[in-house]
Amino acid sequence: MKDRFVPLTPRVGAKALLRRDDVLDPAFRDECLAALERYGVLLFPQIGLSDEEQVAFSKNLGEVIPQGRPRPDGTQEVVFKITLDPRENPSAEYLKATIDWHIDGLFEDGPPPKATMLSARRLSATGGQTEFCNTYAAYDDLPDKERKDYESLRIVHSLEASNRATNPNPTPEEQTRWRAAEARRERAGRIGKKAHPLVWHHRSGRKSLVLGMSVDHVVGVSEAESRALVEKLTAHATRRENVYRHEWEVGDILIWDNCGVMHRAIPYEPNSGRLMHRTVLHGVEAIVGVERTN
Ligand SMILES: [Fe+2]
Repeated sequence: MKDRFVPLTPRVGAKALLRRDDVLDPAFRDECLAALERYGVLLFPQIGLSDEEQVAFSKNLGEVIPQGRPRPDGTQEVVFKITLDPRENPSAEYLKATIDWHIDGLFEDGPPPKATMLSARRLSATGGQTEFCNTYAAYDDLPDKERKDYESLRIVHSLEASNRATNPNPTPEEQTRWRAAEARRERAGRIGKKAHPLVWHHRSGRKSLVLGMSVDHVVGVSEAESRALVEKLTAHATRRENVYRHEWEVGDILIWDNCGVMHRAIPYEPNSGRLMHRTVLHGVEAIVGVERTN
């Protein structure tokens, strides 16, 4: 069958040449998942799906994860509003973390989410683009010697590191809030720290690098060495030729393979009006060799 996706860059991302009806057709599932594995990021330009259609499209690809704060009756939304405006989403502050490179869910329980789908509802006049880097290519491009050296490296990822990356100089009030949030997670039995291998061996046989702002430290080396190594690898993974920057149009849908790309948003003003609707697909592949450290 003719490939109905056109690459957006040589390394990552492809644009779908499809009509809305094709996208919402249950028969599209296998083709879409194969394209996601191949290209890492899929763009459905200005397709303008409603929330119900976005959920149906997501459910056709996998199991959808409930998100956000539970309602009093214990239920949760499956469509989450991504905005920095606390009037639209009480968790807006936590979303400031989206402006640094990351893989979603690295310190959460269970395998990292398989994929994330965003639909653009309103845009910021400035900033607000989303960037993706290919973490498979980041591994493949390493010299042989470095691949060997990194094979046994383990890196701890934590919520605290993620908070500090976003806000390196927290006020005492912010520190109190972080501690309260961590205590709540601990009481709920949720994970706050995990040691991941740097190199993820996927079931497909491919290998990728596991990095991002949730990196706390490299196990077994000094703090200075750890920082230098993480900075070097991040610069390598996110160099320009390995990145796709998406300039949003209202109605665009993007899906990315959370296990094969890192992503970040370019900064934008909290009151810019930017609003994305997000659905997330449950992980289907745990990172082999991961250990809980708290
Ligand atoms: Fe994210």
